[in-house]
Amino acid sequence: MTTPPMRPPHQGGGLRSAARRSLHGREVEARRLSESVMAVAAGQGCVIVMEGKGGLGKSRLTREAVTWARRLGVAIAPAVADELPGAAPLAPLLAALRGCDPPILANPEFDPVHGRDYDAAWLIDQLEQALRKATVHQPLLITLDDMQWADSLTVVAARALTERLATSPVMWLLSRRPWPSGPMLDTLFSDLVAVGAVPLRLAPLPSEAVARFAGELLGAAPDGALLGLLDKCAGNPSIVVDLLTTLAEHDELIIDATHARLLPGSLDQRLPDWLSQVTPLTRQLLDVASIFGRTFDVPSVAKVLHRKVAELLPPVQEALGAGLLVEEGTQLGFQHDLIRDAVYRGLSLDARRRLHREAADALLATGGSVPDAAAHAISGAEPGDTDAVALLIRASDEMVAAAPGTAGDLRLRAVDLMAAADSGRPWRVMEAIGLLFLAGRSAEAQTLSEVALQDGLPAEVEARLRFQLADSLGTAGYSASALHHARTALGLADVEGSTRALLFAAESNAHLLAGDSSAALRAGEQAMATDMTPDRAGRALLTMGVAERVRGRLRRSLQLIDEAADLLAADAAGARRLEAHWARGRTLMALDRFDEAQAAWDAADRWAGEPGTAATEVFRRTCHALLLLHRGELADAVAAGNAGLSRAEELKSWMYVPELCAVLAEASAYRGEFGVARRRLRHGVSRVSEPRSVGAQRLAWATAVVDEAAGEEPVRVLAHLASLYEQLPDRLEALAFDPMAGPFLVGLARRADDARYAGIAAEATDSLSRINQGVISFAAAGLQAGGLLHGDDDRLVAAARAFEASPRPLARARAGEDAARGLLQHGRRAEAVEQLQLALADYDRAGAVVLGRRVRDRLGDLAGSGADRSAAGPAAFGWASMTTAELRVARLVATGLTNRAIADELDLSPHTVESHLRHTFRKLDVRSRVELTRVVLTREPTPGENDR
Ligand SMILES: Nc1ncnc2c1ncn2[C@@H]1O[C@H](COP(=O)(O)OP(=O)(O)OP(=O)(O)O)[C@@H](O)[C@H]1O
Ligand SMILES: [Mg+2]
Repeated sequence: MTTPPMRPPHQGGGLRSAARRSLHGREVEARRLSESVMAVAAGQGCVIVMEGKGGLGKSRLTREAVTWARRLGVAIAPAVADELPGAAPLAPLLAALRGCDPPILANPEFDPVHGRDYDAAWLIDQLEQALRKATVHQPLLITLDDMQWADSLTVVAARALTERLATSPVMWLLSRRPWPSGPMLDTLFSDLVAVGAVPLRLAPLPSEAVARFAGELLGAAPDGALLGLLDKCAGNPSIVVDLLTTLAEHDELIIDATHARLLPGSLDQRLPDWLSQVTPLTRQLLDVASIFGRTFDVPSVAKVLHRKVAELLPPVQEALGAGLLVEEGTQLGFQHDLIRDAVYRGLSLDARRRLHREAADALLATGGSVPDAAAHAISGAEPGDTDAVALLIRASDEMVAAAPGTAGDLRLRAVDLMAAADSGRPWRVMEAIGLLFLAGRSAEAQTLSEVALQDGLPAEVEARLRFQLADSLGTAGYSASALHHARTALGLADVEGSTRALLFAAESNAHLLAGDSSAALRAGEQAMATDMTPDRAGRALLTMGVAERVRGRLRRSLQLIDEAADLLAADAAGARRLEAHWARGRTLMALDRFDEAQAAWDAADRWAGEPGTAATEVFRRTCHALLLLHRGELADAVAAGNAGLSRAEELKSWMYVPELCAVLAEASAYRGEFGVARRRLRHGVSRVSEPRSVGAQRLAWATAVVDEAAGEEPVRVLAHLASLYEQLPDRLEALAFDPMAGPFLVGLARRADDARYAGIAAEATDSLSRINQGVISFAAAGLQAGGLLHGDDDRLVAAARAFEASPRPLARARAGEDAARGLLQHGRRAEAVEQLQLALADYDRAGAVVLGRRVRDRLGDLAGSGADRSAAGPAAFGWASMTTAELRVARLVATGLTNRAIADELDLSPHTVESHLRHTFRKLDVRSRVELTRVVLTREPTPGENDR
C-alpha cells in the first residue's frame, strides 16, 4: 500500500474561481433565457421549464438569467426547494416571495405549518393578490430551482399561479432533475409546456465545450491524456470541476504556460488499482459503505454484510490506513466524494439496487430511522421495481401510528414507482390520501382526491375515496359537500357491503349536521341493514345514537352509543373510539349524570394525541366548556371554550365552532361581558354551514340568552327565535341540550304576549320530560313550563324545588326567579324573597354578575317597598320603581350621552334605549333629558361611579 493518495481539496483548489468562469456550450439555452428576460422587462410574462440531470448546469443557467434580469431592472424572487423531508408546505414559493427585494410577502400569516391542515385555495388566492400588487410597477422573475423536491402544495400553487398571472409581467423559471419524479410534478411540467411554456432540456456538454471549460478552469489547454480522462465525465460540468479540483489539489497535473498535462500514473489509473489492492472484505466494506453515502456507520454496514461489527474492524483499519476512509466523529467517511463515487459507480446497477434495498432492510431491522430506510428504497429503485414498492409500503405501514402524514408521503412515493397499469395503484393512492386526511393535511388530500377522481377509479376505490372525503368534509362542517360525496358513492354499482355501510354512516352524519335527525336515523338504519364489520356498525350506531340525542330520546341515545362504543373498542383508529366516549359523555350530561360524563371523557383521554385525534380535541373542549357552563362554573367555561376555539381555528375544524361560540356567548353574557358575547355570536354565525343546522339552532338560542341578559325587550328577543318555536315539537334538540331552554321559551313568549308560542314551547317541554321519565332537570323544566303557561305559582315553586336535586345551578336559579315572580303576583312576598335569595346565591356562586344584579334589584325593590305595598308587588312609580336597565340608561343620560351612544355603551338597540327612557320619564314624571339629569344627580351625586 502506498501513502494516502488524496486529501480533501482546499476551497478554490487552484482552479479559476467560480465567479470568473464563463458559460460553456449552452448558447441555445442562454439565448432563450435572455430573450425571455428581455420580454419580461418589457412587460410580457412567460414560463420556462428546465430539466437536466444533477450537475448539468440548471442552477448555473438560473443564475445567468437572474443576472440579466437584475441589469434590466426586473425584480427577482429566487427559491430552491429543499431535499430534506419535512419542509413546510409551500416553503419554496413563500421563500421566493420573501426573498424578493422589496419582499412581496412580509406577512408571517402565510406560513402553513407542516403536519397541520391549511386551506390551499385561500393561500393561493393570497399569493395571487400579493403577486398582482407587486408587479403593477415592476416586472418580476420567479425562479424555483430543484422542483423535484417541492412539496405538493408548491406544485399545485405553481400550476394555478402561472395560469392566473399569465397576463402579468412575471417570468417563471422552474427547474428540476428528471428523477425523482411524481405524477403531480410530471403533470405540472407537461401541462405547462402544453399551454405554451418554453421547455429547456439540458443535454451533456459536448466534448469541445468540456475541453474549453477545462482549459478555462486550469488556465491552460488540457493535453490528450487529460482530455481522455475528461471524456469520462459524461459531459457533466459538475464532475469536471470535481475531477480537476482533486487532480490539482494533489499535484497530479503539470501545468505550463500553454498546456495542462496529467502526471503519469495518475488518479484515474491509480484508484481502481488501490481498490484492487485492498483485501476482498475491505472492498466489500467499501462497496456497501458507498451505498450509505459519503458518511456511514459501521453497524449498518455490518448488518448488510451479515457480519459482526468486530469482524469489520480489520478492513476498517485497512481502508483508513490506505487513506480511502477517514474518521468523522462517531462515523466513518470517504476521504473524498470522488472515491465514494468511484466505488459506487463501480457497482453494477443491479448490485446497487440490491444493496440499497438491503441497506433499507438493515436499517429497519436495527431500529434505524424508517425514513432513512425508505430513502434507500427510493434510491435503489426505478419505476416498476416491485420490491422497492413493497418496502416503501412496509415503511409506510410502520409509520402510520406515529406519523400518518409521512406514511402517506411514503405511499405516494410507492405510487410513483408503481407501473401505470398496476391494478394496486388506485388503492395505494386512496390509502395515501386517507393518511393525509388522518394527518390533518386535508387540503392536500382533497386536491389529490380530485385528481384521482378525475382520472377515473375502480368503483370500490372511488367509493372508499368518497367516503374519506365525506368524513373529513363533515368534520370540517361542510355537510352539503359531505352528503354529495356519500350519495354519489352510494350510487355506484359494485361496491362492497361494508363500504356501503360506511357511506351510509357518513350520510347519516351529514344529515345530522344539517339538522335533519330523521334522515340521519334512516341512513343509520340503512347502514345497519348492510352486512358489515364491527367497527363499521360501530360508526353507524354512533351517529344514530347522536341523532337520537338530538331528537331528545336520551336513553335510546345512550343505549346506541354504548353498543357503538363496544363495537369500536377493537377499532384500531383511536379517533373513533374516542368519539364514542365523548358522545356517550354528552348524552350522560343531558341526563344530568355530570360525574359519569366527566368519567367517560377522562377515560377517553388516554387516546388523546393518537393520530387522527386532533380534530376530536375540539370536540373534547367543546364538551368541557358546555359541562362547565351547565355546572355554573362560568369563568372555567370561558377558558375551556376559548382554548377550544383557538384549536378549532388552528385545525380549520369548524364542525363544533358554532356550538363553542354559543357556549362562550352565554357564559360571557352572564358575566356581564356583552361585547365579547356579541363577538362570539358573530364568529359562530360565520362558521355555520347551513341555516337549519344544529349549530345554527344553538346560536339562535344563545343570541336570545344574551339579548335577554342585556335587558332587550321580549318581543325583540322572540323575533330571533321564531324558527326555533316553529320547529317544535319535531326538533327538540334546543330543549334537550339545555333543560332551562323550554321554560325560557315559554316565559319569553308569555312576556311577549304570544300565547301560541308559549303553548307550543310548554307542550314540547312537557313531551321531553315524558320521553325521558325520571330525569330530574326535564321533570323540573316540565313543571316550570306548565307553571309559567298557566300562571300557576305552586307549580313554579315545585319546579324550583325539583331543580334543587339537579346539578344545574343556573337552571335552578332561573326557576327560582320565575317562582318569585309568580308568588309576588299572588302577594306571597315572603316566599318570593326566599326564592330570590336562593337564586341570588346560585348566581353569585356562578359568577353570573348580570343575573345576580337583576335579582338583587328585585330584592332591593321588595325591601324598599313598605309593608303596605307588599301585597301590590313592587313600586310602580318613583325612583324605587326603576328597573336596573332603566337606571343604567338614566345614569348615562345624566352623563350627556345620546340614545345611540347609550345603545352602543350598553349593547342594546336604540329602540330599547328609547323604550327604557319612555318608562323612566313616566315613572319619574319628567319631560326632558335635562329634568331627568337633575333627578339623577340629586339621587346619585356622582354619576358614573355607580355600578352599571
Ligand atoms: N455550461 C456550463 N459552463 C460552465 N460551468 C458550468 C456549466 N454548467 C454548469 N457549470 C458548473 O458546474 C457546476 C454544477 O452546475 P449546477 O449546480 O448549475 O448544476 P445543476 O444542474 O443545478 O445540478 P443539481 O441538479 O445538482 O442542482 C457548477 O459549478 C456550475 O458553475
Ligand atoms: Mg442545481
